[in-house]
Amino acid sequence: MRLIFLAPPGSGKGTQGARLMKEYNILQLSTGDILRENKKRGTKLGKEARYYMDAGELVPDEIITAMLKEEIIKPEYQTGFILDGFPRTKFQAKALEEILEEMNLKLDAAIILEVPKQELISRLSARRTCRKCGKTYHLIFNPPQEPDTCDAPCFGHLFQRADDTKETILNRLKVYERNTSPLIEYFEETGIAIHINGLGSVDEVYDRIKHSLAAINTHVEVKK
Ligand code: AP5
Repeated sequence: MRLIFLAPPGSGKGTQGARLMKEYNILQLSTGDILRENKKRGTKLGKEARYYMDAGELVPDEIITAMLKEEIIKPEYQTGFILDGFPRTKFQAKALEEILEEMNLKLDAAIILEVPKQELISRLSARRTCRKCGKTYHLIFNPPQEPDTCDAPCFGHLFQRADDTKETILNRLKVYERNTSPLIEYFEETGIAIHINGLGSVDEVYDRIKHSLAAINTHVEVKK
């Protein structure tokens, strides 16, 4: 199964992607996670990306596309993947098409998670992430058992992402509207777009995605 998410910041790409990964036994490839890891390690890529990420702007197409290409050709992605955060521009969508064509592969579905703006702001403002394992919480909808601490067995410290401040969240949403939302039409035309209501509990949203995926004609055998 080869999937992409086409969805705004805070819509649940990371949350739902982690579940799909287990269900379909495929890997989640999050461009945001790779960039944050590079930022943390202080690599050349991390230093280049820092300015854009902290401002809620997109990292330039050439940089991010080269990074994606380098990653997706790895053997662990050959049986399938969920792209979380790529493509985000027409340039990236075309580049992905070319990369997959070279690999003789096709996407099975583009999952479009629909969540109203106010809900996105509320989800992102209260998100906390574990420094050790990367698990995310929400202070109200999905709080940790102990304040600022990841649940067992990790017990890592929880922090707020640098781009989860009010001003940067608003800019990220603007950037999504301007650069990424036009891709919805692009993927509708290819016939692989699946629209999912992203409101409701994590379980409810997940069930909707699962049912929609089960309905598409795919050669992939679902685990369980
Ligand atoms: P990235 O890391 O991709 O961030 P994003 O798109 O802004 O998405 P988020 O990770 O913030 O949200 P999400 O949709 O994964 O939601 P989550 O599941 O965490 O990108 C970061 C930056 O990197 C970009 O701004 C850019 O600079 C750069 N970048 C990355 N890719 C790029 C690209 N292709 N091109 C250029 N630049 C790129 O959920 C959010 C919160 O809501 C959590 O607290 C969660 O617990 C909660 N939640 C989830 N589902 C529900 C639910 N159903 N009900 C209630 N709460 C929920």
